[in-house]
Amino acid sequence: MCFSLKLTPFIFSTMKADVLLGLQWGDEGKGKVVDVLTPRYDVIARFQGGPNAGHTLEFEGIKHVLHTIPSGIFHSTKANVIGNGVVIDPVVFKKEIDALLNLGVDVKKNLFISRKAHLILPTHRLLDAASEASKGTAKIGSTLKGIGPTYMDKTGRNGLRIGDLEHADFKSLYATLVAKHKELLGHYNYEYNLSELEPAFFEGVEAIKQLTLIDSEYVLNSYLANNKAILAEGAQGSLLDIDFGSYPFVTSSHTVTAGTCIGLGLAPGKIGEVYGIFKAYCTRVGSGPFPTELEDSTGETLRKNGNEFGSTTGRPRRCGWLDLPALKYAIMLNGVTQLIMMKSDVLSGFDTIKVCTHYMYKGKKIEHVPYDVVNEKIDPIYDELPGWKEDLMKVSDFDQLPAALMQYVDYIEQATGLPITIISVGPDRKQTLMRKEVAF
Ligand code: IMP
Repeated sequence: MCFSLKLTPFIFSTMKADVLLGLQWGDEGKGKVVDVLTPRYDVIARFQGGPNAGHTLEFEGIKHVLHTIPSGIFHSTKANVIGNGVVIDPVVFKKEIDALLNLGVDVKKNLFISRKAHLILPTHRLLDAASEASKGTAKIGSTLKGIGPTYMDKTGRNGLRIGDLEHADFKSLYATLVAKHKELLGHYNYEYNLSELEPAFFEGVEAIKQLTLIDSEYVLNSYLANNKAILAEGAQGSLLDIDFGSYPFVTSSHTVTAGTCIGLGLAPGKIGEVYGIFKAYCTRVGSGPFPTELEDSTGETLRKNGNEFGSTTGRPRRCGWLDLPALKYAIMLNGVTQLIMMKSDVLSGFDTIKVCTHYMYKGKKIEHVPYDVVNEKIDPIYDELPGWKEDLMKVSDFDQLPAALMQYVDYIEQATGLPITIISVGPDRKQTLMRKEVAF
């Protein structure tokens, strides 16, 4: 594709953008699936979050983690757009583009950044750290990438945007915001050395200025008008959404499908397929409620077999069985049209597999996610299904999957009313099984 950024005046087009997003607490494997689906699309766009994300891709013996850059970047003929809903840390961003350059990927050709995306300043990171430290045991478990303070400045109408980098007086805009942040840091009594952090920030700023900055809402709508296929790539997961997650143990952006419309400037009617991606079990990093968490040897086995350690922070992930009330909640919020199940291989070896179907909450058996998941006790009620022992790493076709795994798939399809169209059986691009009878 040639990356025409020429804008087409609005015309009626039936083309819609598809969305791929996580239905749990993040780390579902979005990066891998976006990379696999990219050949079907012309444009991959990120719509929210920032360097708190870590999207891992593995192919041809290379393992690569992307934080801000869309997972289509390894396909040189595809446009990759960072939308207005994203927050960008120039320091992390420069490291990402340098690492890609080392792998022979020059992002200058096919990466475009919205002028309306907000900038994460070094002082945002300091404020994140100071705020978390002040919370003591009530801390959120933030990745400390400055996400919360940056979105606070955005909604508080103080933030700096990528487009501000084009202004001659950027340095004075920066100084004004930093002065505000220093006052706030004073309230926290937090020790810091800003002058150590600033050189890398300004180097990152220069790197961003070498790239193509765009009015992404116009560009993306023009792409649709010209019948280009867009895939919107979510970050984090639906259960970390600022409104619908287990507040306050959430991230600061809208991780659900509605966030795609806001974060890219696409009208709701322009959304097509919604791919909901989930792990065959659950994980969560950071604090917050997790009804099916296993703090025993089974949880340890899941963590070990699934290599469940954060790709951004390295922290061990909390592990537990699949939680259907939470999954159904996420499906409802997102308008999911098809499901993608990841890491099925990690469940190999268990005699039986449990699935939470209901919760006991305030003495009642319920099937929904109640308002107070933070202070009230939630006890999972489980169904038990037969496990399987086969190693799935070499399975290359749906038909070769063990019968007990297919029973697990059927069970989830019945419970959710949606088809599972893709099953992942290992980290590599090739270990992705597509259901043949489903047309993509
Ligand atoms: P923050 O977005 O860095 O402020 O972190 C808020 C909460 O979201 C913490 O519990 C983090 O561990 C979690 N979180 C943020 N980004 C991700 C992600 O990409 N994957 C999984 N959890 C995340």
